[in-house]
Parts: sequence; structure tokens; C-alpha cells
Amino acid sequence: MTDLSSFPDGFRALVIGASGGIGAALVTALDANPGCAAVHGLSRRAGDGHGFIDLDDEDSIAAAAQALTPLGPFHLIINATGQLHGDEVTPEKTWRHLEADRLLAYYRANCVGPALVAKHFLPLLAKPEKAVFAALSARVGSIADNHVGGWHGYRAAKAALNMMIRNFAIELKLKTPTAIVIGLHPGTVETALSAPFRGMVKHEVFTPETAAGHLLSVINRAGAEDSGHQLAWDGQVIAG
Ligand SMILES: NC(=O)c1ccc[n+]([C@@H]2O[C@H](COP(=O)([O-])OP(=O)(O)OC[C@H]3O[C@@H](n4cnc5c(N)ncnc54)[C@H](OP(=O)(O)O)[C@@H]3O)[C@@H](O)[C@H]2O)c1
Repeated sequence: MTDLSSFPDGFRALVIGASGGIGAALVTALDANPGCAAVHGLSRRAGDGHGFIDLDDEDSIAAAAQALTPLGPFHLIINATGQLHGDEVTPEKTWRHLEADRLLAYYRANCVGPALVAKHFLPLLAKPEKAVFAALSARVGSIADNHVGGWHGYRAAKAALNMMIRNFAIELKLKTPTAIVIGLHPGTVETALSAPFRGMVKHEVFTPETAAGHLLSVINRAGAEDSGHQLAWDGQVIAG
């Protein structure tokens, strides 16, 4: 079980994207942690026992935040949504594949939606205890770390999300110095998102359960000095 003792006993948590591979594993891990008094999941599949949220619909984000306000404040809010491929979206291998609609779809799914989640959920963070807002990003969103190219829309959208995270950390520090905003890179994880691409991966691939443990461990160790940064599953700071 992951040590989450940097949070107060009886802390409250929230996972947006609870239907996803990593999001579901985070809910399960938090639910099993004795220090966590309550974990709430939100997803587009509200029938699965989650509250409803659709990141393409800001009204639903606002309504979800409003409904959860009486159950807060929250010490840990994790946004675990994102998109790499879908019915109408596949990552570009070359600039010749660039299309405005696909670029906008990536930006919407990986930056606009999570940013609107921050808009409505950052005010629900607890204070003055340790509180963390973490958004699942990806190492491929690092400009400095990009030596491979390709996946233009996904990479650019994650880079834009990383800028949002830095901006939110700066703004939040003025109002709530104990609150931490971080981006997280989970490594390659066995989920629907990575399924079509895992064959080309040369490094270790984690189960969602292992990934959730890594991420919660990084969150537990995160301090004020980490706010605004991207942290990898092993705690390494990823260059911007
Ligand atoms: N898996 C990896 O190897 C890997 C590597 C690096 C980074 N990441 C990042 O980790 C995060 C989680 O990925 P995952 O692997 O767990 O993928 P996943 O299993 O495909 O889960 C993606 C989640 O995002 C949700 N989502 C997408 N668009 C949404 C919207 N408009 N409104 C509400 N929910 C929406 C999905 O909801 P539905 O269930 O309703 O579709 C699902 O819960 C993503 O940000 C991804 O970029 C993953």
C-alpha cells in the first residue's frame, strides 16, 4: 500500500477520468488506503458509480464541482483524462498528416478540458493542510526531451497543458501557498490509450495498478518546490 502520510489522516480525494485505465486504478488504490476517508470518481460513464462529467461541456464540469463542494474540501484532486487516439483521431507521423480538426481535437482533449477542470476544481482544494492538484500529462509534452518527433497534436497539446500547470501553480501560490499543482508522467501503462503503440515500446510497461502506486508515491513526496513542474513516475523532474 502506498504511503500517503504527507496528507492529514482522513484526507479526501477526487479522481476525474475514473473510467480510464489509470483513473480507475487510482480510485481503487485511494479507496484501499486507510488514511483516505473518501474518494469520489467522476467520468462520462456516470452509471459505473461515478459522478458525471464531460470535459467537452463546461456546464457539466461546473455542475460536478458544485455538487462536490459540500463533500470537500479535497486534499487530492487528480485529473486522469486524456486522448491519444480514437474513432476519428490517430496521432500524426509527419507534418503532412496535419489537419486543423485533429489538432483541435487533441488540444481540446488534452489541454482545454483539463484546464477547465482546474478552473472549477482548484477552489475546492483544502487549506492550510497539504493539498495537491495533479494532472496526468506525458513526457512527450516536453520540448527539451523531444528527440523523436511525430505525434504532433498530442505532444503540442500536452506541452500546452504543462504551461497551464505552471501558470496555475504561480497564481495559486499567491492565494494558497500550501497548495501544489503538478503534472505527472505515468510511464507507459497498459491501458486502452497505449494499446495500439505498446509493440514499439522498448522500456518497461506498467500495469495500471503499478502506475497508480508510482503516481501516488510521487504525489506523497511532492512539496511546494515541485509546484508548477512535471514529475515522472519515478519522481524525476521532466524538463519543460
Ligand atoms: N497509458 C499510457 O501509457 C500513458 C502514457 C503517458 C501519459 N498518459 C496519460 O495518462 C492519462 C490517462 O490515460 P490512460 O492511459 O488511463 O487512458 P484511458 O484508459 O484511455 O483513459 C482516458 C480517460 O480520459 C477520459 N476522457 C477522455 N475525454 C474525456 C472527456 N471529454 N470527458 C470526460 N472524460 C474524458 C476517458 O473517459 P471515457 O472512459 O468516457 O472514454 C477515460 O476515463 C492521459 O492524460 C494520458 O495522456 C498515459
